[in-house]
Amino acid sequence: MGLTGALALVVSLAIAGAGSAGTAEPSTPAAVKPPPVAGAAAIKAKYGGQSITFVGDGAVGNSHVRDQNLVAQFSKQTGIKIKLVPHPADSSAAYSQLARNFSAHSSSIDVMMMDVVWPGAFAPYLVNLKPALGQQAKLHAAGIVLNDTVKGKLVAMPWFGDFGILYYRTDLLKKYGYSKPPTSWAQLGAMAKKIQDGEKASNPSFVGYVYQGNAYEGLTCDSLEWLASSGGGQFIDNGKVTINNPKAAAILNLQRSWVGNIVPSAVTTYQEEDARNAFDSGNAAFMRNWPYAYSASQTTPVKGKFAVTVLPHTGKSPSVGTVGGWQLGVSKYSKHVGAATEFVRWMTSPAVERYDAIFNANVPTIPAVATIPAVVKANPYLIPSIAKVTRVTRPARYLGPHYAQGSQDIYQGINQILNGKSAQSVLPTIASELNKLVKP
Ligand code: GLC
Repeated sequence: MGLTGALALVVSLAIAGAGSAGTAEPSTPAAVKPPPVAGAAAIKAKYGGQSITFVGDGAVGNSHVRDQNLVAQFSKQTGIKIKLVPHPADSSAAYSQLARNFSAHSSSIDVMMMDVVWPGAFAPYLVNLKPALGQQAKLHAAGIVLNDTVKGKLVAMPWFGDFGILYYRTDLLKKYGYSKPPTSWAQLGAMAKKIQDGEKASNPSFVGYVYQGNAYEGLTCDSLEWLASSGGGQFIDNGKVTINNPKAAAILNLQRSWVGNIVPSAVTTYQEEDARNAFDSGNAAFMRNWPYAYSASQTTPVKGKFAVTVLPHTGKSPSVGTVGGWQLGVSKYSKHVGAATEFVRWMTSPAVERYDAIFNANVPTIPAVATIPAVVKANPYLIPSIAKVTRVTRPARYLGPHYAQGSQDIYQGINQILNGKSAQSVLPTIASELNKLVKP
C-alpha cells in the first residue's frame, strides 16, 4: 500500500471510530455494538439493583443473541438485573404461554415481546405506557402505534416490523438463463422446476421453493400473501368473511400441487428456521421468509449468492407482503413497572432500533432509522422498490380477542390443503368457523 493508501486507511478508520458522526458507520452485524443507555446514571439511582424478567425472542436467526447483547448493555449501565427468557420460536406457542401467564395474574414476567396481532387480546393485562412513553411513540410509524393503542391506552411500544419477501439464488438464476427473479406465481413455479431438475442430478436434496407451511401462525401469514396477491382477498374484508372464493381456491390448489414436486413434502412442518436451513445449506432456489433471514444467511454457504425481492403475484393483483412485527409490553402484574418501563424506553429508542436493524436485519418501526445509510446498506429490502410493496394485515382488527382462534382455524385448514385436500372441500369450513368469531 502506498502512502496515500495508508493515509486513506487511517482516515477511514478514524471516521468509523467516530460512530454516528462519521460517514463510514458500521453496517455489518459483526461491527455494530449496542448503543449507550441515555440517562443511565439517573435510572441507576432510582432502580439499580432491581431484577426484572424479559421474555424475548426465540432461537430465530440472530434474534436471541441480539437480546443477550442488549440486555447485557442495559444491565451494565443501569444496574438493573435482567433475566432473559427466550419465548418459543413458534409465535402461536409463544402466545399460549403468555396467555397462561396473564390469566394466572403472575408477576413472573415484567417485559415481554408481543406479536403485532396480540395487543387486542392482551390489552387488559398490560400497563398503559402513554404517560411515560407517549412522546417517544411519536417517533414511530403512526399505523403501528395505532395498532398498539387499545381503547386509548398505549399497551405496547413498537419494537421492530416485518414483511414477507422472496429470497432467490442469483447464481442459479444465472446458470439456468434467467436474468430476473419471477414476478408471477406461475413463473416462480416454472423457474423452480427447471432449476430443481438441473440441480437434483448432483444434489438429491435440492428443491425449488420453501416457505412456512406448518400449522401455526406463520402459515396464516404466508397464505394471506398467496390470496391477497391473487385476487383472493384477505380472509375477512370490511368485516365480512371472504375466504371461501374461487380465486382463493385457485391459488391454494396451485400451492398444493407444488407440494411433493417443487416444494418438499416436509414443508407442511416447516417454520421460519426450517425454510432458512434448507435455503442456507444451498438446497433451495427460492424461499419466502422475513427480513431477519437476510442477516442470518450472511454466515452460511449461500453468502453472496442470493438476493431479495417482492413476492410474486397473479395477473393484475399486486405483489404483497404480510405485515409482521413485534412490540414490547409491560405486565400489569409486574412488581417493577418503573424499571421495566425504562428498559422498554431504551429498547424502542432510535439508537437501539438502528442497532437491531444492522445486527438482525429487522425492519425499523421508526421511519427516520430506516433511511440511515448504514441501515439501508445492511437491509437491501429497504430500497423503495421492495419496501413500497403493498402491505397486507391479518384480520386481527375484526377478530379482536378471538384472533388466535380465528388464525388457528385458518392455518389448520390451509395446512390440510397443503397435505392434499382440495381447497373447495376445506374453505367452507374455515369460513363458517370464522363467521362464529367475527365481531358483530
Ligand atoms: C414473524 C412476524 C410475526 C408473525 C410470525 C409468524 O415473527 O414478525 O408477526 O406472526 O413471524 O411466524
